[in-house]
Amino acid sequence: MALSLDFAGKHVFVFGGTTGINFGIAETFARHGAKVSVASRKQANVDSAVGALRALGHDMLGVVADVRNPEAVEEAVKVGRAKHGSIDVLISGAAGNFLSAANALSPNGFRVVVDIDLVGTFHVMRAAFPNLTKPGASVINISAPQSFVPMRYQAHVCAAKAGVDQITRVLALEWGADGIRVNAIAPGPIADTEGMRRLSSPNAIDKVVEAIPLKRMGTKEDIAWLAMFLASPYASYISGTIIPCDGGGAFDSVKPMIEEAGKLDAAQKAAADGTR
Ligand code: COA
Ligand code: NAP
Repeated sequence: MALSLDFAGKHVFVFGGTTGINFGIAETFARHGAKVSVASRKQANVDSAVGALRALGHDMLGVVADVRNPEAVEEAVKVGRAKHGSIDVLISGAAGNFLSAANALSPNGFRVVVDIDLVGTFHVMRAAFPNLTKPGASVINISAPQSFVPMRYQAHVCAAKAGVDQITRVLALEWGADGIRVNAIAPGPIADTEGMRRLSSPNAIDKVVEAIPLKRMGTKEDIAWLAMFLASPYASYISGTIIPCDGGGAFDSVKPMIEEAGKLDAAQKAAADGTR
């Protein structure tokens, strides 16, 4: 059977899709013909993402929505369905991150990351389910190495992303009979992203790269290509998996990223004295 990576006419909805890795995914699907919807909190990010997507020549949609707000997520899905039809590819990638020792983290500091990454992913999947193309939809959650590698100063993120992985596995079980595949991507260190700016420092990059078996940082395209593969007929028997895309180095790259960042003491001190 001849397969293709042509997403012409397909509706791809990316939550948290206005910047960084998730925007890279949105852009790559748009380049392959998809009708793309993106949603995030900030109007400026939504406007800039939609402007860039429309420059690719398609009719794209941007919605302001905070994934912590289930009604806002439902409304975004509704608007997306009205414009582009049922959702063929759903990406849930909104996330928050900062370094903090667990004992310097306030309850609200822990909760905010769990609310965005984990509860937000639940909201997205719950609102999308009635609006997914059945059979055939592909759901892709954006996880992280923190879901399976314990990382100092990341208790909140590790807990949240581990939960994302388990939601992924459970909903693959529950939604399989509807012909919906549910998977997650765990990107390794990706160059030129907010996530790396928050976890590392320019001084640490050489050591991070040295620790990665493929000897380079990942790119947004690396992640977007995996997302396209997972959404394509090439992956039609893949569901319930968490796929690292990390140059072989999630475990090894974590240590220099955190320990050489030079931010750890500062992060703890800032969390303790409120000067972050
Ligand atoms: N260290 C410790 N605690 C921190 C912190 C830090 N660097 N940054 C925020 N917090 C705490 C706050 O103190 C607050 O807790 P408190 O009420 O007990 O003081 C809590 O987290 C919520 O902070 P707030 O700024 O109100 O949250 P927000 O909803 O405006 O923003 C964040 C959410 C904190 C996750 C913010 O960093 C964000 O918007 N991130 C999105 C972008 C991002 O992180 N990208 C990388 C993805 S990998
Ligand atoms: P990013 O640019 O900050 O992307 C986060 C996106 O989520 C933004 O578009 C942001 O837009 C949106 N967002 C944040 N909070 C939101 C909320 N409450 N509701 C709706 N949207 C929200 O960060 P990134 O580094 O590219 O990370 C993208 C994803 O990859 C995340 O899931 C992250 O955990 C994962 N990841 C990144 C790396 C890396 O190396 N960078 C590694 C592993 C995993 P607004 O501010 O407009 O809301």
